[in-house]
Amino acid sequence: MARKKLIAANWKMYKTPDEAKAFFAEFLPLVAAHTRDEIAIFPSPVLLPTVIDAAKGSKISVGAQNIHFADEGAYTGETSIGQLKAIGGTHTLIGHSERRQYFAETDEIVNKKLHAALKHCIVPIVCIGEVLEEREAGKTAEVLKKQVTGAFAGITPEAAAPIVIAYEPVWAIGTGKTATPEMAAEAHAIVRAEVAKILGAPVANAMRILYGGSVKPDNASALLNQAEIDGALVGGASLKADSFKAIVTY
Ligand code: 13P
Repeated sequence: MARKKLIAANWKMYKTPDEAKAFFAEFLPLVAAHTRDEIAIFPSPVLLPTVIDAAKGSKISVGAQNIHFADEGAYTGETSIGQLKAIGGTHTLIGHSERRQYFAETDEIVNKKLHAALKHCIVPIVCIGEVLEEREAGKTAEVLKKQVTGAFAGITPEAAAPIVIAYEPVWAIGTGKTATPEMAAEAHAIVRAEVAKILGAPVANAMRILYGGSVKPDNASALLNQAEIDGALVGGASLKADSFKAIVTY
């Protein structure tokens, strides 16, 4: 069965509520008739209510860039999955490389968050990817396998259906350097094989693996036309309605 592609916008720490509203006013008419792919937007937490409201009545899903794994508690600055759900959020990123790099997120934390998201029926996008030194040292496969194994510890095939993976080579994020479609497809195949080892081939074959890292309107179609690439996680080029629309409609 063909995997429906998911094109996701990670807005990172950009935009005010007014800017988010302006984006939607421009973006919604551009994709109103687009049903081929799923679209999801991940704004920073303060924008979530505005963006969820703006997306109402459309097919666009809205999610958090990060969630805490605890149901509630004394965790200053954090957002729980229950809070995300209560306002209508349906998805979350987990383990983005910027969370791993700047906020010390480990595979163990990623694993706890993945369990929490599945428990609460929130669609998790688990982000993995190697840094430049690891790629240059020929360690890409090893790193990806370790990240997948760590993230998926204790996850059963029965529970795994909602999981999406995003392969984002860290050296390609925000740098303008993109993995070639062949490099990305090769990494995706490694990841899918590892998922198959852990959860079985049927789960692995159904799981969507997105590519992220300097996806732009001019490289989107080459990447997204690879059979192994099931969508994109887009940073910079998702901030403007026209460029994100061009990627969505690659
Ligand atoms: P850029 O598209 O800006 O490289 O960001 C990619 C990314 O980190 C998406 O999560």
